Amino acid sequence: PSRLWVSEALSSSELRENIIIQGWVRSVRAQKANLFLHVTDGSCLQPLQIVASSELNDPSLTFGSAVEVTGVLKRSPHPRQPVELEAHHINVVGKCNPVEFPFKIKDRHSLEYIRQYPHLRCRTNAFGSLLRIRSEAATAIHSYFKKNGFVNIHTPIITSNDCEGAGELFQVEPSGQKPKEDENFFSVPAFLTVSGQLHLEVMSGAFSRVYTFGPTFRAENSQSRRHLAEFYMVEAEVSFTQSLEDLTEVMEDMFKSATEHVLAECSEDVDLFHKYVTPGHRGTLDAMMTTSFPIITYSEAIEILSRSSQKFVFPTDWGCDLQTEHEKYLVNHCGNIPVFVTDYPYDLKPFYARDNQDRPHHTAAAVDLLVPGVGELCGGSLREERLDLLKNRLEQVGLEDAYSWYLDLRQFGSVPHGGFGMGFERFLQCILGVDNIKDVIPFPRFSNSCSL
Ligand code: 4AD
Ligand code: MG
Repeated sequence: PSRLWVSEALSSSELRENIIIQGWVRSVRAQKANLFLHVTDGSCLQPLQIVASSELNDPSLTFGSAVEVTGVLKRSPHPRQPVELEAHHINVVGKCNPVEFPFKIKDRHSLEYIRQYPHLRCRTNAFGSLLRIRSEAATAIHSYFKKNGFVNIHTPIITSNDCEGAGELFQVEPSGQKPKEDENFFSVPAFLTVSGQLHLEVMSGAFSRVYTFGPTFRAENSQSRRHLAEFYMVEAEVSFTQSLEDLTEVMEDMFKSATEHVLAECSEDVDLFHKYVTPGHRGTLDAMMTTSFPIITYSEAIEILSRSSQKFVFPTDWGCDLQTEHEKYLVNHCGNIPVFVTDYPYDLKPFYARDNQDRPHHTAAAVDLLVPGVGELCGGSLREERLDLLKNRLEQVGLEDAYSWYLDLRQFGSVPHGGFGMGFERFLQCILGVDNIKDVIPFPRFSNSCSL
């Protein structure tokens, strides 16, 4: 027999004999003469209907069991499915005890409930759809960059720098044998990367446009709905920039193009979210896709916040960092669409951010993209390319020696450049309307949680 994926079978228009389908049972319905099964294999959301004579029924054919079915693929008399498999033989490959299996055939389990079973939740419809969407979204992002002339750089996972300077690093050491004192594997302290930015900046000395897309790590202690200890980040760096708009254009374009790709390629899976998991979100997403994202400065944002009648927990004076509550307010204020906030206080930004040299309010050419439901989706900046200014700043923070290679970049054919990072999980939260970041990554890592 020739093997078909369920997705291939469902889109097949001709009668095909001697077909084999391998997958997992999603439902069982036994009638007097006939047995009906729904089988999925992860290739798509819709299951394939199997029709068999009730003689082929077997008590181990239960929800979740793994089967191999051979038979004839035929047009189905039912309008809801184009084809069905008339089974000649059903082999139960792996039983599934319905009493102990945590998912029940009739129940629509919540994302919170299935999150308790990280090793099993891929077997639910919702998480299966999420994983297909996530896979396609990654493809969409790579294809956006390819289309726009960006070179993909594999930046290292292990590094000695703390790009963001926030001190949220995981240190890397060999396990087992304890190294002798003041001796370590790399001869310098090494960490899991918090961002590939500095390595991209190296490359931007030879390439006009580069990007990277990989895991990044932060020892965040917060148990929030939008922070993980391990998350995927999309980072781009553009050379010969003139203003922040060279970056906001790429961010908006990438966001819209990747979202469009996902909506087109995964419509059935996305609909599952928009109809059942996060109803009401589709309208928000459509509004995001059809408007251009407004740009406001940090100073304007502070003005908007201080004029508001809403009582905020955190202060809104010029110079304060924007908190989640502030981000939410600003997004709503702009009509519940994504909004860019630019030119943050110089002192809030890491050493690499370009000095705007303005007074009395001293700002850096940095930009965040805030989006509905999530808050900060992207963070970026123009980079300080002027050697004297950069040197001063690194001296002030005592990093001049550690970053001598970074200063070198400004001496050998340096150009104005800038870039940004987008949290990939937050992107998925944003397009699907998912409230908790733990529900959009296969195996979430956060404090007290790394059990498999
Ligand atoms: O704003 P961040 O810290 O910016 C950077 O790391 C820059 N070096 C990027 C660059 O310019 N190349 O992080 C970028 C984005 C955030 O806007 C957020 O979406 C996401 O990464 N992010 C997280 N996502 C999940 N869990 C966390 N703990 C995150 N921290 C940041
Ligand atoms: Mg940020």
